[in-house]
Amino acid sequence: MNDLKHVAIIMDGNGRWAKKRKKPRTFGHDAGAKKLIEITKEAASKGIKYLTLYAFSTENWKRDKSEIDFLMKLLSKFLKKELKTLTKNDIQFRVIGDISKFSDELQKAINTTIEKTKNNKKMTQILAINYGSQDEIARAVNKITKEKITKEDIELTLDTKDFCDVDLLIRTGGEMRLSNFLLWQSAYAELFFTKTLWPDFSLKEFDDIIENFKQRERRYGGI
Ligand code: IPE
Ligand code: IPE
Ligand code: MG
Repeated sequence: MNDLKHVAIIMDGNGRWAKKRKKPRTFGHDAGAKKLIEITKEAASKGIKYLTLYAFSTENWKRDKSEIDFLMKLLSKFLKKELKTLTKNDIQFRVIGDISKFSDELQKAINTTIEKTKNNKKMTQILAINYGSQDEIARAVNKITKEKITKEDIELTLDTKDFCDVDLLIRTGGEMRLSNFLLWQSAYAELFFTKTLWPDFSLKEFDDIIENFKQRERRYGGI
């Protein structure tokens, strides 16, 4: 059975979920945030060590200002509410992505949550916000001043330097692409795509995917 340490999820389908219910896209984002908390608790109870959740990509700035404003507010609200869950469940909070593009107030709230949960041990919840793999790699290379840059130099400089590579990458919403998420870190991840829209993603489906992952043969280029 495969050991499962790091799960990454592309939480896609909030907008379509709301549209199906004749509601604005923001209604779907609210439901998505609730789902995120539910899945985080389940992941911790399953003994997963790192759970990385794609919440806002470097490309998502292309959306209408009203949707972006809503998502920023949702993130602030989420941070307040999430602290209780994180504390109660011994979960550490971290982020990947370039948060310098967010308002000072939001950056402060993010850093406070990181600080308040830094000694929690059971699991690390990693929120990918204003995250794009290409931006991450470009930022990492810029931080390295050495002449010859090795694979290890890059690995030790990426936003994810404190976490292991992704074992299992799940995308909800039916699209079969990575959308600039964890390109480097998922080099040998097992991929799982489901048509389920993120707010409908159930604990049962999550558990079934984990069981499926455990049975897969991981060869890493060997035989
Ligand atoms: C994912 O859901 C959440 C974010 C990208 C913020 P979407 O908002 O992309 O939902 P769909 O894909 O339009 O249904
Ligand atoms: C990926 O979803 C980003 C997040 C889930 C945060 P998108 O909805 O932005 O991806 P595309 O546009 O379908 O590739
Ligand atoms: Mg989408």
